[in-house]
Formats: sequence, structure tokens, C-alpha cells
Amino acid sequence: MIVRKFKPTDLKRVFEIENMSFNQSYGINMFQKLYEMGVGFLVAEEDGYVIGYVIFWIKYENQGHIISIAVDKNHRRSKAGTELLIRAISILSMLKIDAIYLEVNENNTGAIEFYKTFNFKVDRTVPGYYENGDGAKIMYLPLKRGKVA
Ligand SMILES: CC(C)(COP(=O)(O)OP(=O)(O)OC[C@H]1O[C@@H](n2cnc3c(N)ncnc32)[C@H](O)[C@@H]1OP(=O)(O)O)[C@@H](O)C(=O)NCCC(=O)NCCS
Repeated sequence: MIVRKFKPTDLKRVFEIENMSFNQSYGINMFQKLYEMGVGFLVAEEDGYVIGYVIFWIKYENQGHIISIAVDKNHRRSKAGTELLIRAISILSMLKIDAIYLEVNENNTGAIEFYKTFNFKVDRTVPGYYENGDGAKIMYLPLKRGKVA
């Protein structure tokens, strides 16, 4: 498996993975726009087939943000998510930020466990964050002078 930069020809496949992974979708046009904005956008590829993606950016001057991460259902628990998140964290860490934040559905226990393996902590819960009324946990990974604290 390799992790590489997203290319526009990956768009349909990334959208497919997002669709199978979330109830609420950003939509294919949003992925195109995010790419054009120049956000961090990586894919995991196995034998030439895209099996996962991660999108991230600097939200505020001192704060990184994971916008979205997902792995194809048939390829989970094989460390593709880990490889993608390691790369995103290492790129964000070079930018001298204080922490990396993300939002996760409070009922998404699998993803919460996944983030805990990276030492992400729960900052707070925001009730009714998602369209269906579910709350979000705001999680963050503190960094010390750009390095994982
Ligand atoms: C969260 C997600 C990206 C993880 O990707 P993945 O490639 O399956 O994760 P990894 O194989 O790298 O998992 C690493 C570790 O995280 C933990 N973990 C991952 N998924 C887990 C789950 N469903 N339940 C419990 N622990 C889990 C485990 O400790 C795992 O190590 P192990 O398999 O040796 O036990 C993937 O489950 C996914 O796409 N989910 C749907 C989309 C989503 O929820 N994205 C995050 C929204 S904020």
C-alpha cells in the first residue's frame, strides 16, 4: 500500500468511499473545490486501487484540522487509516501548529477508538452537530512546537 497525493482522476472513487462511510456527504463538487483550494488531500492506494483518503488543512494560524478521513469498508482494519493519518499529522506538524482538531460523530465508537490510538483527546461534545441530530465529539492532538506532544 502507498500513500500519495490526490489527483482529479481519483474524484469518483473518493466520493464512492465517502458515500459508503458517512450518512452525511460533502458531495462530489465539494471534494473538487477542496482540491482546487489547495487543502492537504492524500489517498491510500493498493495495487493501483484507491482504498482510502484523508483531507486536512490549517483552519486557523495555529490549528490544523482533519476535514475527512475514510477507508473502503472492505479494506478496514489493515492500517490504511493509520498510514493516512500518520502522513497528515507529519505534514501538519511541519507547520509549527499547536494542535490538530477534528469532529467525530459521538456514536462513531470505531473512529473514536481509532483516534485514541494516536493520542487524540476529547475536548468537548457539541449536541445536534449533524443534520440527523447526532452530537459531535471535538477531539484534538496537542503538538509541542510542531511535534506530537
Ligand atoms: C476510522 C477509519 C478511517 C479507520 O481506518 P482503518 O484503516 O480501518 O483503521 P486502522 O486499520 O488503521 O486501525 C488502527 C487501529 O485503530 C483502532 N480501530 C480502528 N477501527 C476500529 C473500530 N471499528 N473499532 C475499534 N477500534 C478501531 C484499532 O486499535 C486499530 O488497530 P487494530 O486493527 O490492530 O486493532 C475507518 O474505520 C473508516 O473509514 N470509518 C468510516 C469513516 C469514519 O468514521 N471516519 C472518521 C470520521 S471523523
